[in-house]
Amino acid sequence: MSRRAIYPGTFDPLTNGHVDIIARACHLFDEVIVAILVNPGKQPMFTVDERVEMLNEELGPRFPRVRIETFEGLLVDYAMKCEAQAIIRGVRSVKDYEYELPMILMNRRLNPLVETVLLVAAEDTSYISSSLIKEVFSLGGTIDGLVPDLIVERMNNKIRAGL
Ligand code: PNS
Repeated sequence: MSRRAIYPGTFDPLTNGHVDIIARACHLFDEVIVAILVNPGKQPMFTVDERVEMLNEELGPRFPRVRIETFEGLLVDYAMKCEAQAIIRGVRSVKDYEYELPMILMNRRLNPLVETVLLVAAEDTSYISSSLIKEVFSLGGTIDGLVPDLIVERMNNKIRAGL
């Protein structure tokens, strides 16, 4: 049986921290579905379609066993629909663990068949978050080396387009 995992998140934008976790997940699973949450409640920098396109462009050539999808509703329901055995989440710190634990336990209560696997972030990406990237970028700071070059380019294009 092929081992399939879901790596869910907002990915607004994709960072090198996400890429590190995806690489680690690919060592453990035959197929990794990067699942972008469609969340109309949040005001994102990139639309879901833009994120799907960017993730395909960036991850496609590097990770042939990664698939980019979107989902709405309960994550565990989506995991069952995809026939995934596991949910991947990255942890950078104890604070992340505290944020993840209630979700892990709730997801387990909702569906005990789906296991959450926590992967510890690489030291050099452990301070990177999408929100920090957006803040530094919006204030004119450099984000080179913290997100893939393609993402830097797309963020610059957004600014140029006045969005
Ligand atoms: O990268 P993020 O924004 O921290 O990801 C959060 C995410 C997408 C994992 C979480 O919001 C989620 O699973 N949302 C789907 C709705 C759901 O299942 N909620 C119950 C979780 S216990």
